[in-house]
Amino acid sequence: MCSVAQAVAPSRPIWTNDPQLFAYNAAIALFNDPKSARPITTAVGLIESEYRTHLKTLIAIHGHAVDIEALALSAPSFCDFQKYSEIKAPQISPTEGIYNLFLSIYSNTYFGVEQSMEIDSIRRAVDVCFSQKRISSAEFRLLLLALGRALLRVATTTGHFAQFLTPSESNFRKYVAQRRRSVWRAFLESLDVFVPMGDEQWRKVNMAFNNDALNLLNHLKGQPHRPGVVYADPPYTSDQYSRYYHLLETLILYDYPKVTSKGRYREQRFQSTFCLKAHAARSLNTMVEASASLGADLVLSYPTNGLVYRSGVDVIDIMRRHYHKLDLVRSVSHHHSTMGASKGVVKAAVTEQIFVGRS
Ligand SMILES: C[S@@+](CC[C@H](N)C(=O)[O-])C[C@H]1O[C@@H](n2cnc3c(N)ncnc32)[C@H](O)[C@@H]1O
Repeated sequence: MCSVAQAVAPSRPIWTNDPQLFAYNAAIALFNDPKSARPITTAVGLIESEYRTHLKTLIAIHGHAVDIEALALSAPSFCDFQKYSEIKAPQISPTEGIYNLFLSIYSNTYFGVEQSMEIDSIRRAVDVCFSQKRISSAEFRLLLLALGRALLRVATTTGHFAQFLTPSESNFRKYVAQRRRSVWRAFLESLDVFVPMGDEQWRKVNMAFNNDALNLLNHLKGQPHRPGVVYADPPYTSDQYSRYYHLLETLILYDYPKVTSKGRYREQRFQSTFCLKAHAARSLNTMVEASASLGADLVLSYPTNGLVYRSGVDVIDIMRRHYHKLDLVRSVSHHHSTMGASKGVVKAAVTEQIFVGRS
C-alpha cells in the first residue's frame, strides 16, 4: 500500500484513496499528518504501563488457557502438541469495554492466546492514552499502524490474512516459532515503518480519501480543486482485498464485528466491483470515463490476465474510448504472487502493462 505515492513523494502534491481503513490511515500517516515534535518512542513509553497492566489482568483471568498454550508450544513433537487439544477452544465471550476482542474472536486462529492478549492490551493502552490526551492523534495513528504491521509479522498464516495455518506434521516447527513470537517486540520493531514523508508544508496540501474510486471521481467533478493526474492500479482478480485486510480493519475499528467463514472475515466487508467478472469491465470504463471528464491524465496499471480481459474486453479499447492521446508506455513480463498458492502455483507469469491517457 502507498508504494506509488511514496515513489513520487515529495516531488508533487498527492491525493490518495483507498476504501480500506488501514490503507487510508497509512496514507494519512505518511503524507498528511504533522510530524511529531517528539520521537514515537516517547508515546510508546507512555502506553507501556497501561499495556502491562491490562495484559496482567487478562492473564490472571485466563491463566489456564495461557498455561496450556505454553505447554503445547514446548511439546517436542506434533503428536505431543495435539494432546493439548483444549487450547483449540478457549470459550471467551467477546465483551465490549473489556478489550478482549482478539482474544475472544481470533485466538487459536491467526494468533495464539497470549499473542491475542498482547494485541488487546496494546490496543487498549493506545485508546486510554489518546482519550486522556497523553498522545496526539498522529501518534495514535502511528501506534495502530505499527501494531497492524506487528500483526502481519507474528500471525500464523502463509503471509496474509485470507486464511490461517492449521497445524500439521509438516508445518509444526514454523507454526510453533510464529506462535512464540512476541507481539510487543514486533510492535516495537515496526515503529519506524510509517514515518511521515516530505516537509510540513507539503503534507498540508495533500489529501487522503476513504471511498470507492467510482464515487470519489464522481464527487471530485463538482469540486474547484481537481487532480491533474490519476494513477490507478485496481484489483484484477476475483480475490477481494477485504479478505486480506479484514483483521487490519478490525484492529482500527475495534468494533467486535460479527465474523463469518473459516477465515473469520468481518460481515459487510467492502466488495470491489473490480473483482467481479460481470462488473470489472464496466467499472473500469466508468473510472476511465470519470478521470477523462475531470480533465486529468490517467496512468493505469493492468495486467493481461486481469478480469477485464477474461470477460472478453480489451483494456486499450476502454482507454481509447475516453482518451485520444494514448500510450502503452510499459509492457513487462512479470510474475505475480498468487497470495499463498490457493490456485496451485505460487507465482503466475503475466504481462504487466502501464497505459497513459493524456487529456
Ligand atoms: C494494487 S492495490 C493498490 C496499491 C497502491 N496503488 C500502491 O501504490 O501501493 C489495489 C487497491 O485498490 C483498492 N480498491 C479495490 N477496489 C477499489 C475501489 N472500487 N475503489 C478504490 N480502491 C479500490 C484495494 O483496497 C487495494 O488497496
